[in-house]
Amino acid sequence: TRTQVGIVGAGPAGLLLAQLLHRQGIDTVVLERQDEAYVRARVRAGVLEPGTVRALCDVGAGERMLRQGLVHGGFELRFAGRGHRIAMDELTGESITVYGQQEVVADLIDARRAAGADVEFEATVTEVAGTDTATPVIRYEQHGRTHELHCDWIAGCDGFHGVCRPPESPAYQRDYPFAWLGILASVPPSSDELIYARHDRGFAMHSMRSPTVSRFYLQVPPDTDLAEWPDERVWKELHLRLATDDGWRLAEGEVTERSVTGMRGFVSRTMRHGRLLLAGDAGHIVPPTGAKGLNLAVSDARLLGDALIRRYADGDEGPLDAYSDTCLRRVWRAQDFSQWMTGLLHRTEGAEFEQRAQLAQLAYVCHSKAASTMLAENYVGATGM
Ligand code: FAD
Ligand code: DHB
Repeated sequence: TRTQVGIVGAGPAGLLLAQLLHRQGIDTVVLERQDEAYVRARVRAGVLEPGTVRALCDVGAGERMLRQGLVHGGFELRFAGRGHRIAMDELTGESITVYGQQEVVADLIDARRAAGADVEFEATVTEVAGTDTATPVIRYEQHGRTHELHCDWIAGCDGFHGVCRPPESPAYQRDYPFAWLGILASVPPSSDELIYARHDRGFAMHSMRSPTVSRFYLQVPPDTDLAEWPDERVWKELHLRLATDDGWRLAEGEVTERSVTGMRGFVSRTMRHGRLLLAGDAGHIVPPTGAKGLNLAVSDARLLGDALIRRYADGDEGPLDAYSDTCLRRVWRAQDFSQWMTGLLHRTEGAEFEQRAQLAQLAYVCHSKAASTMLAENYVGATGM
């Protein structure tokens, strides 16, 4: 079989790209290793920048998000027993939307079907070949059979552990000496807004998914075994790390999902290898503290979609040639911010000196309008990059 653009991966990057291209009459095939139920239920990120919200609305996938997403004009930094609100809306004029990544994915799948196209699930790509020629090919297995898909262009949207990024391609990398243990719980959030907490025992975060579902994260060692964290231990640690001096109470509920995610920074030197273009986690990873991973995947897909549309509309390959550099400028901005916010809130072993300096920085960020604007601007993605 053949198509114009072969897309590997039905995450936010692949699905948004497919929708952008399909709406312009460009033929696409989306290949996804997992089955549909798995993809629709996979719990990951939950904070959407305004630019991400606009991108989803522009392709006809925003209706449910606008109804059910929680619009937040601020969030809380909590440390030394007290909370401090960062008023994003007042500082930047923008708000974020809290809406689960798997809902974004479900809405994009539904929008693709409504537009008369579909996703090939349980289709595992084993190889992309001929990317330096005009006729690249994707090899994949589906339901026990091997297939070849011939394309004009291949979009590698298959996440960090995918097969599209050439394994030997150069990249910049940083590992962090901690991981996040995340849980989803059936309990109304104990706060109207997200809470990022710095504590001597380590970072903790209170997020949410809906008026009845809460999401929490705890900083844990990188090699953490979930079996050592029964629910009681998770709640006890959340109570300790989120405690305030004014008697704020954390409500507990049934835990419905739990996972441990390692933290790393990774940026490919290039997002393009001939006719193979990478987008999203396939090309870069940020630590989750700044909530940038999903938003970067969406901005990559928009850039790549625009570039391919130009190429098909008038043969202009300029935007495709500029894609990697344009993309990486934004990625490095987000990488720096995520690294900064990780350092602001996580506990590193040892030095009392660093911890004192960290508390001084937190106090400054909350006190100074310039410093809190810097934080808010990056958080909503209004950095002009
Ligand atoms: P993905 O969403 O990873 O999509 C890639 C798709 O490709 C997947 O559906 C995968 O099944 C498919 N695929 C992989 N290999 C193949 C193959 N060989 N053939 C066919 N299909 C293939 N970010 C935050 O900001 N906050 C968070 O709390 C947060 N939590 C996370 C938790 C986890 C466990 C992970 C892995 C990531 C988390 N992230 C978080 C990051 C964020 O979810 C990602 O940045 C985002 O999913 C990137 O989207 P994507 O479309 O590039 O990749
Ligand atoms: C969530 C994840 C993040 O990484 C973050 O910074 C804020 C919220 C979440 O999953 O809700």
